[in-house]
Amino acid sequence: MSELKITSLSASYGLAVALTDVSITLRKGETVGLLGRNGAGKTTLLKSIVNDPEISATGEVTVAGASLRKTPTYKVARRGVAWVPDNRRIFTSLSVAENLDIAKSRKAPGDQLDKVLANVPLVEKLLKRRGFELSGGEQQAVTIARALMGDPDFLLLDEPTEGLAPLIVEQLRTSISRLPSLFDLGVLVTEQNFRFVTELADRVHILETGQAVWAGAPDELVARPDLINRHLSVGEK
Ligand SMILES: Nc1ncnc2c1ncn2[C@@H]1O[C@H](COP(=O)(O)OP(=O)(O)O)[C@@H](O)[C@H]1O
Ligand SMILES: [Mg+2]
Repeated sequence: MSELKITSLSASYGLAVALTDVSITLRKGETVGLLGRNGAGKTTLLKSIVNDPEISATGEVTVAGASLRKTPTYKVARRGVAWVPDNRRIFTSLSVAENLDIAKSRKAPGDQLDKVLANVPLVEKLLKRRGFELSGGEQQAVTIARALMGDPDFLLLDEPTEGLAPLIVEQLRTSISRLPSLFDLGVLVTEQNFRFVTELADRVHILETGQAVWAGAPDELVARPDLINRHLSVGEK
């Protein structure tokens, strides 16, 4: 069975340790949420999976049993792992259609664009717009569509709701929730938004100062306000 398996992953920036001994398994067809406060290590975990050169990591990351650790960042997508960074990083001077076109991969089916446009709300009517003309929610939809152009097996989403209005967050939740079955992929989504993740994920992990402090089902977490108060930011609903 195809899975993305993270085993005893530790990571540091130079001498600064940002992640210690984290293990997470993500299967195709499911969504795993990674919650934690600002600075908890969520982005570092995703960057470690894709071997961001800024980070030195130890431990193992495998896709369908084969190690990803020596695959350079630009080749990780070819191994079936698509990363949507927290700053969204679309090409602002290019149109949405061009942003999608350059993300096409040889491995993806010829009709991948049609499939993406049919299944990621909003994007089709934005095709002619340039990146700089998009709102935050539109940018997020386009970055997800772009990641899907390579027909990935696993999608890594870094704080997709950051800076978005509640209504847009709700639309985003609906569209992300459909991705595992529509595209036969696994989603690993990091968030500070506790409600977003518990409504979306099959399993949830909590990180605090780079350590995995809790893992379980969303329902278990909803029933544990003590955990929410202890490990997630005050004021989160
Ligand atoms: N480029 C960097 N250089 C040094 N330290 C970093 C860098 N990026 C992040 N860190 C540190 O690593 C820790 C985890 O950060 P990060 O993974 O960005 O957390 P999160 O995504 O959960 O907010 C923090 O202490 C942060 O200050
Ligand atoms: Mg982050």
